[in-house]
Amino acid sequence: MKLFRASVTLLAVSSALLSSCTMMSKPDTLKFDPTKYTSGTTTVNGKTYKYRAYTVVYVANPVDSKYQSMNIYVPEEYFAGGSVGSYNAQSAPIFLPNQVGGYMPGEPGDITKPPMGGSADTPNAMQVALSRGYVVASPGARGRTNKDASGQFYGKAPAAIVDLKAAVSYLHYNDAAMPGNAERIVSNGTSAGGALSALLGATGDNKDYAPYLKALGAAPASDAIYAVSAYCPITNLDHADAAYEWEFNGVNDYQKLQITQDTSYQMQRTLVNGTLTTDQIAVSDALKPQFTPYLNSLNLKNGDQALTLDAQGNGTFKTYMASWIQKSAQRALDAGADLSKVSYLTIQNGKVTGVDFDAYAKGIGRMKTPPAFDGLSLENGENTLFGTSSVDARHFTAYGTQNSKVAATTADPQTVKLMNPMDYISAPDTRTAPYWRIRVGTADKDTSHAISAVLATKLTNTGHDVDYWLPWNVPHSGDYDLTELFDWMDKVVAK
Ligand code: DHB
Repeated sequence: MKLFRASVTLLAVSSALLSSCTMMSKPDTLKFDPTKYTSGTTTVNGKTYKYRAYTVVYVANPVDSKYQSMNIYVPEEYFAGGSVGSYNAQSAPIFLPNQVGGYMPGEPGDITKPPMGGSADTPNAMQVALSRGYVVASPGARGRTNKDASGQFYGKAPAAIVDLKAAVSYLHYNDAAMPGNAERIVSNGTSAGGALSALLGATGDNKDYAPYLKALGAAPASDAIYAVSAYCPITNLDHADAAYEWEFNGVNDYQKLQITQDTSYQMQRTLVNGTLTTDQIAVSDALKPQFTPYLNSLNLKNGDQALTLDAQGNGTFKTYMASWIQKSAQRALDAGADLSKVSYLTIQNGKVTGVDFDAYAKGIGRMKTPPAFDGLSLENGENTLFGTSSVDARHFTAYGTQNSKVAATTADPQTVKLMNPMDYISAPDTRTAPYWRIRVGTADKDTSHAISAVLATKLTNTGHDVDYWLPWNVPHSGDYDLTELFDWMDKVVAK
């Protein structure tokens, strides 16, 4: 492994030679073995589905094979020349859900487990996928808290995205040997997992990740995917603090979610109420105006209209954000919701005619204290995402670095870039996924709605097919509309 690692720094030609020697002398552990399976059944809406289950380690040199492995579930029909719906062993799309939350390590998805927060008889996304004829491949990924026996961290950025890419390469590498069509991989994730799903879709085959993939012994094949499903992506972290204050500046009461572990290591989630201090209000006031130059630098458009902001944070982009809330409210109203008590909406004769965006932010409320992500005392999960093998937490914005309250270092710009899909959409030599579905509830306050909107709009403006929607009153969550999600997938994979 040491020798292989060292080869990364050698000339490309010698490292290629070295790795091909390694391939020749060792059995190819990355080859899919169709005989190594267990059989299982799963019940969705009263109907039972039979599958074959595989667990594979998707890199040749795993750092932690618990996380760098993938559970694969294949409809039994595909081993007997059969079909499920309109799919067969050759055409079946591959559903690739990651299980990452909070940028923590995520284990490969287990089809037998109920969905997060759901009851045992609510089918999870993998069950629904299987019932609809998809091959399911759910990779694990390292995360920010992974630590080895010597105290070294091994899941800091960009580990999680490198792992997901390696899993995709495994699927392309084995496309001929495995049921399912690796040209139709659809990734899915929620929150940090939604961010990674988007990042996977934005960065297909980009060479920035190549040295990391090589060090892990990833399969020599494409890491591009066909489509992205992302629920409430906690992404664009280097601009998320400013975006948060653009949305929530002036909202000084907050309800913060505190995640701790109890004595038996169970996650405890508690809501803590508070009011911003004078210092925190000053931080909010300093961060909010940083969003305007960033937003304007993106040169986004809604049709022919340029989306911009002025120094006060007002302008066509803000009106555009309000229009997404308005459309969401209209759909809820049409479906029979009583919105008469929603004070930030103007409703006339069954039509939502206005949204006061500032009042909306106040209405949903602030969840995070400023800076929302790059904590000035390195106290946030994102600080630890950007740590190193020996440093648990670092800053990753200029503001955090300049205003740090603790002795701290700052992540290098390249590592921050490797985690931001905005930097890779339609970049040269990059296969950005052509199809996207992005969902963020109107009641979500884990990151600014501007973050998903700029992602969706940049994708649309660069010619990608984007289904973006803010479901009414839905909080920070995912997989809540699986029928619609798979209807969308069925539609886009047919293109
Ligand atoms: C997640 C939520 C957050 O608020 C955040 O900052 C990072 C990750 C999550 O649920 O994955």
